[in-house]
Amino acid sequence: MKKVLVIYWSGTGNTETMARRLAKGAEEAGAEVVLTAVSGATADMVKDAAALALGCPAMGAEVLEECEMEPFISSLSQIEVGGKPVVLFGSYDWGDGQWMRDWVERMKGLNAVIDGEGIIIQLVPDEEILNTCYEAGKRLAG
Ligand SMILES: Cc1cc2nc3c(=O)[nH]c(=O)nc-3n(C[C@H](O)[C@H](O)[C@H](O)COP(=O)(O)O)c2cc1C
Repeated sequence: MKKVLVIYWSGTGNTETMARRLAKGAEEAGAEVVLTAVSGATADMVKDAAALALGCPAMGAEVLEECEMEPFISSLSQIEVGGKPVVLFGSYDWGDGQWMRDWVERMKGLNAVIDGEGIIIQLVPDEEILNTCYEAGKRLAG
């Protein structure tokens, strides 16, 4: 069974809702799924997974959350993510998605195989974007 790891940081629950739907898609497509907040994630878990979904809202000034998510992403190298399918996702509010564009480029720099351009939504995810998350989860399982 394919191992899919879904890691997220979420302050007010919007990105967490996306993470849960994505995990559901992967699970219902037959993957072995681990869903965890970034505080419970390790680089070894990432190394062990066949495919990844990473979620974080836009924080600071168009950056990843700085206490937990940023250090975790900084700790990853090609060893953990190189060649693996990776979906990035997250919620934002007043920006235009710059944090996600930067994150996509950063992960490509680690040779991650990025699925699309990152799934982003302003504030609370609606049913359409949750379906997008679900389908992305299914693709990670495939
Ligand atoms: C401290 C802080 C910084 C933020 N910085 C940005 C930002 O730079 N750009 C943006 O579009 N939204 C920004 N936001 C808005 C959040 O991305 C938005 O509220 C998002 O829905 C939070 O997702 P969550 O519910 O998963 O925590 C910021 C919010 C907070 C609390």
